[in-house]
Amino acid sequence: MSDFNWLSGIAWCNLKVKMPDVVAITNRKGGPSKTTSVVNLAGAFAALNLRVLVIDLDPQGSATNFFLGPNVGENLALDSTVGSLFADEFFLADSSNLILETELKNISIVANNEFSDPLNNPVRNAWEPHQTSLLEFIGDECKAFDIVLLDFPPSLYLLAWAGLIASDYVIIPVPPEMFATQGLRHVHKMIAEAREVRPDLRRLGHFVSRKKRSRTHSFILKSLQERFGKELFHSTLSEYHDYMEVSALGQPLEVCRPKTKAANEVRELRDEILERINKFESRRAPRDSFEANDGN
Ligand SMILES: Nc1ncnc2c1ncn2[C@@H]1O[C@H](COP(=O)(O)OP(=O)(O)OP(=O)(O)O)[C@@H](O)[C@H]1O
Ligand SMILES: [Mg+2]
Repeated sequence: MSDFNWLSGIAWCNLKVKMPDVVAITNRKGGPSKTTSVVNLAGAFAALNLRVLVIDLDPQGSATNFFLGPNVGENLALDSTVGSLFADEFFLADSSNLILETELKNISIVANNEFSDPLNNPVRNAWEPHQTSLLEFIGDECKAFDIVLLDFPPSLYLLAWAGLIASDYVIIPVPPEMFATQGLRHVHKMIAEAREVRPDLRRLGHFVSRKKRSRTHSFILKSLQERFGKELFHSTLSEYHDYMEVSALGQPLEVCRPKTKAANEVRELRDEILERINKFESRRAPRDSFEANDGN
């Protein structure tokens, strides 16, 4: 896939000023807690007074419905959602209006809904024209944010591919189940391929989601520790009823249940994410120097 390399120069031309950290929460599997992690981490980051943008890349629109309510989310036209970045008819449209404020302090969202479904096709070749659309949008419109969290669909099609190319870091939630751990190979392969376009895309780590106290979970947890070593986050998200409850309320735990064990483990995960990002950033060349990649 080395055909992709020339694109990196074009896409990074835009990134010459302070940019947000762009973090993908992804897994090809359905239901490992991607959206639950994104919306609750958004609340935890916002509590630190960081300006958070959630970009919903899933045509199911779960994060959108969480923050805006299904009545609003499901009725947004394509030109008000992230889907417009991938639609030829909106190629020249002003994309600044895609960023919608939520009712929560410090949290905004770029919405998605089922209207983007027909655009989410398999990426068939290196010349996919929309693969850098999201990267360019973030470079042009999202400088006011400190952190961008991308909620991925349970597929590895165009929206996921563009999401990886737009990201600085990838985090993979893994429930401790046999089928979930077996599917990771595809996700790792796609990340490796995306690095041909974004060589500084980093796997920030895997974290165990939906952890229960059971012998099987303990066994799989141990094998994940052996497989990923330091790359496995110490923090885990357990199976707690609170997560399900807040998804119905449309408020992150940090806002409506800040004293629960669940809110506490989200804050621990947030802190570990920030610690890892800081470690990478201290080693990473300043973003201004991305200019050096421009055709050189
Ligand atoms: N740690 C948890 N404890 C209890 N329930 C959870 C937990 N994490 C997620 N859930 C519930 O499981 C369901 C699926 O979670 P979620 O939507 O976050 O997964 P997902 O990975 O985003 O799924 P999809 O692949 O469909 O986008 C939701 O009903 C959610 O409330
Ligand atoms: Mg989801």
